[in-house]
Amino acid sequence: MPAWKSRRKVLLGITGGISAYKGPDLLRALMKAGCEVEVVLTEEAEHFVSPLVLSTLAGRRIWQQRDFLSGDRGWEIPHITLADWADVVLIAPCTAETMANAAAGRGKDLLGSLLLAARSPVVLFPAMNVNMLAHPATARNREILHEMGYILAEPDTGSLACGYEGKGRLPSVEAILDEMWRALCPDRRLEGRNVLVTAGPTREFIDPVRFIGNPSTGKMGWAMARSAWYRGASVTLVLGPVPPLDVHGFTVIPVVSAEEMKDEVLSRAESMDVIVKSAAVGDFRSASFSRDKIKRGDREELQIDLVQNPDIASLLGERKRPGQILIGFAAESSDLLENAVAKMKKKNLDFIVANDITAPDSGFAGDTNRVKILGKEGVSGEISGTKEDVAEDLWGRILDEAPLS
Ligand code: C5P
Repeated sequence: MPAWKSRRKVLLGITGGISAYKGPDLLRALMKAGCEVEVVLTEEAEHFVSPLVLSTLAGRRIWQQRDFLSGDRGWEIPHITLADWADVVLIAPCTAETMANAAAGRGKDLLGSLLLAARSPVVLFPAMNVNMLAHPATARNREILHEMGYILAEPDTGSLACGYEGKGRLPSVEAILDEMWRALCPDRRLEGRNVLVTAGPTREFIDPVRFIGNPSTGKMGWAMARSAWYRGASVTLVLGPVPPLDVHGFTVIPVVSAEEMKDEVLSRAESMDVIVKSAAVGDFRSASFSRDKIKRGDREELQIDLVQNPDIASLLGERKRPGQILIGFAAESSDLLENAVAKMKKKNLDFIVANDITAPDSGFAGDTNRVKILGKEGVSGEISGTKEDVAEDLWGRILDEAPLS
């Protein structure tokens, strides 16, 4: 876990919508992530979620409307002390009423006053009936709040408690935490930048059921995408076939073959500030595709002719525009640095991240990695840890060495 995620102070405000019943799950997830959490409930929220459940899970008192201006902590004023204490404020769910009050700057209740006093980032998770969300008053309040600097998460689409189908669901607990990390990430150097990441394996089908592939799970590319998103980037993830990943916040372009990946990447490359090529692209595909499943028959051997796939990184290197940063990955089983340097030059990359896939805690499929990054200024020392830690470290070095103009 990167240092900036450690022991963050989270003020969780829960307001009176039906999805307030997910509050205890959210609280537990925040605590599991190592956060210190204070909970503030509005009066309406008490209809949907029990204060006792929340205080038991939190292992501390929670704050209710009756504590507003109570003098319970002697001279301390709850809405000021809580606002000053928090590194981040989350309101989940955030009702239309709470949005309207916040947009009007009303401080009539504990949460309203707290929002006025808060100087930390505030992330609102609107969740309500689809028509309430679409109402011009709610839409206008969203705009006002956005202009004031509040962060507004997009509600999920699906079946709503009121029986409607549509937009208005509270996002998953994982997505709420991700939005919080994005609000807390201290490095904002990718704010407003377009970053494209390729991740996962490719599959080159020989017949309708068999393919040439590799064991990539896309985790390293996913971690690079997540860290770029935390830093403020708009992230496009061109993703080969992998087990399900949490892709909240990304534009995901699913692909299967190297040819498909090439088309999707090249058609978007021009508008990208940074491109990270972490996919394990198959170098060869079958020269022909059999429409029928190839039968075993009596034969002892089967020859398949292979032809080279396009090298997407090289094609990107050829058309790289000034100021664009191109980062490759090199998975090597021998002569790590020599091979990586040669690839960086050949493909016109700005950086290459080299890993020795023969090392036990490195490379494909696992949750950890051990890499070195090579740039124009030479090679780094070894960077190791979870793929998230490695991605965080890599972005730090990349943006230090090649600041975006
Ligand atoms: O396979 P190789 O070691 O050459 O991969 C180095 C870099 O080139 C990686 O970033 C990989 O994603 C990229 N690559 C590619 N298209 C290929 C093969 C590799 O973009 N056909």
